[in-house]
Amino acid sequence: MAYEREKENAAAAAIEFVEDGMTLGLGTGSTAKFFVELLAEEIADGLMVKGVPTSEDTRRLAESLGVPLLPIEHVDRIQLTVDGADEVDEKAQLIKGGGAALLREKIIANASDLMMVIADPSKQVEVLGAFPLPVEVTPFGYTITAKKVYDALRASGVSKPRIEVRNGSGSKPLVTDGGNYILDCHCSIIPDAPEAARLLSAVPGVVEHGLFIGMARTVIIGQDVGAAVIEY
Ligand code: A5P
Repeated sequence: MAYEREKENAAAAAIEFVEDGMTLGLGTGSTAKFFVELLAEEIADGLMVKGVPTSEDTRRLAESLGVPLLPIEHVDRIQLTVDGADEVDEKAQLIKGGGAALLREKIIANASDLMMVIADPSKQVEVLGAFPLPVEVTPFGYTITAKKVYDALRASGVSKPRIEVRNGSGSKPLVTDGGNYILDCHCSIIPDAPEAARLLSAVPGVVEHGLFIGMARTVIIGQDVGAAVIEY
């Protein structure tokens, strides 16, 4: 796996922010996996925390490592969520959802006192958009929704979006943990991410999109040795 050391160093730096008694949002993806593994080691050494997983994959991982979990319905406060990202720009605006977990990730990040991003240096970009933007849509009417998503992206200033339904096994659409489909929107450049986010949220059939605007307050970029912690 590329950037393995940098991902692990980012996760290790995030562990330093964890305190006894916290409820933690547990992200999804290969970088978040390092965090859950390191957290499990701390728990084995006596740390008392509870986790709220952002996906079924993370739930399975956490359970297998003995990380105590809380059902989302029993959560009244999440002090810290630690999650990866597919892209992060200089304003801590993110593209997420490469792992198809963006809906739960956004619900949990939004409910957290602090959302912390852990990433390797390849995720840092000047302008969002090289990574295809995931948009989660209801299966009902998804071809119509895709056209409206195209219009919304165009109206936000994306010059030529190309939209693909993400496939799962075989050539069937991938079904998310929430029972929805993912449209991967190839944009190259998203010149006005807040406007794209606003317009996408207004499209009927869009359940959630992978633009996380104004949510991350701490970004940790893992390095070959150590990590850079950037506060916003
Ligand atoms: C999951 O849906 C995504 O938002 C992930 O956080 C993202 O894909 C980062 O994954 P890696 O840490 O594997 O790059």
